[in-house]
Amino acid sequence: MAKKQDKKVQDKKVKNNKIIKNKKEKLPKIGMLYMDYVLRFFDKSNFKGWPDKIETVTYHWKNDSNRFIKEVKRKKIDILIGNIPATAYETFREIARALPDVEFIPSLDTQFSNKSKENVTRFAWKYDIPIPKTYIYYDKDKADNFIEETEYPKIIKKSYGPSNYGGYFVHKVDSKQEARNLLAQKKYSPAYFQDFVPMEADVRVMLIGHKPVCAFWRRAPKGEWLTNTSQGGSMDYMDVPKELLDLAVQVSKDAKAEYWACDVAVGEDGQYRILECATAFAAFPYIRDWIGQYLMWKFSNGRFNKPNIPLYNWEELGKMDPSVLRTLRHITFGNYTPSYDGAYFLDKKVRKTSEGELYLHEMDALYPILLTEKRTQEEWASEKWNFQDNYGKTLRKVHAKSNPKDTK
Ligand SMILES: Nc1ncnc2c1ncn2[C@@H]1O[C@H](COP(=O)(O)OP(=O)(O)O)[C@@H](O)[C@H]1O
Ligand SMILES: [Mg+2]
Repeated sequence: MAKKQDKKVQDKKVKNNKIIKNKKEKLPKIGMLYMDYVLRFFDKSNFKGWPDKIETVTYHWKNDSNRFIKEVKRKKIDILIGNIPATAYETFREIARALPDVEFIPSLDTQFSNKSKENVTRFAWKYDIPIPKTYIYYDKDKADNFIEETEYPKIIKKSYGPSNYGGYFVHKVDSKQEARNLLAQKKYSPAYFQDFVPMEADVRVMLIGHKPVCAFWRRAPKGEWLTNTSQGGSMDYMDVPKELLDLAVQVSKDAKAEYWACDVAVGEDGQYRILECATAFAAFPYIRDWIGQYLMWKFSNGRFNKPNIPLYNWEELGKMDPSVLRTLRHITFGNYTPSYDGAYFLDKKVRKTSEGELYLHEMDALYPILLTEKRTQEEWASEKWNFQDNYGKTLRKVHAKSNPKDTK
């Protein structure tokens, strides 16, 4: 007993030493990456308690790369945090190469899916992530050929655009003729087709450190197929299946994403398929606070606590009016500790999963907040993967895997 006591005291000392040591340790210099005309995902206030000055660097578009690079160097920024919109993606791959000592969070490779639906598809093909079967053609003759030979209905999408327009560039075509007319009118390049998947609904899942922190169903209005809430769809937060969360976690890990959102379609056939995924998404401020907290933990070598975000918190928070959720800030949760109260308040809730019933706190433990895997080299180098600009140029020497037969 006495021995145990000693050990406890010792542990505490070590812990205190560690805290003192940590306080002396220099923190990396953080910069917020902003762009003119683009809504900001993060604000300095999301990094509440960060003791050092947080820099900001704003990209002004139009030949601003060199000035931007100089400013990052002058401000001695170690870590640049922010989402890069599709239209700046390729420029920022170049900027990141010119700043090899600066860590971009999320990395440009993680943000690959932000650029286009084509990129989401190529990411899914690489990692065998289930998606609706997809066909991408830059060559007009090949697209025309496909239209003649394929079956209908099909979905046609604009792959690349300045922003997310909630279904506005997504079309259902029921025949060859409709497909021909649509592409003649819209002139989308590449021509991006998907098998039409009849679906019950889709679920937006948001993750931090590969843990789901928010999820909600989106259902199409009666008789319609678009589930975008901006198209009149409805949403609710209850009973998102564990297996669907598991798929979102896997996709987040494949992307090595510090934070991430996936749209998972729930097919009438019961299958889950990824429709979209990205680091750029609409999120309530308290979720961006959690991301800030997670990043402070990641960058501070334990000086800041890892946030504790219980699984299915969204079922409770989602009961509040969105106007309230939009103003809530810095929500924290205590850890689950089994106790008389705990037994009364928490132990009761169970979840049905394909592996049987689980208590909520047992299930929570299956989804730890994790550090992302470190990257050592470029995964999606533009020389190989920027088909949009490389198409037709001699630059494209490497033949990438495309339109594989085995995609779902
Ligand atoms: N292959 C598909 N089959 C059936 N419905 C689809 C398919 N792809 C997309 N949809 C529907 O269209 C909506 C918008 O498509 P999405 O790829 O998410 O583009 P957007 O960027 O416009 O949101 C989806 O939320 C879904 O309801
Ligand atoms: Mg969408």
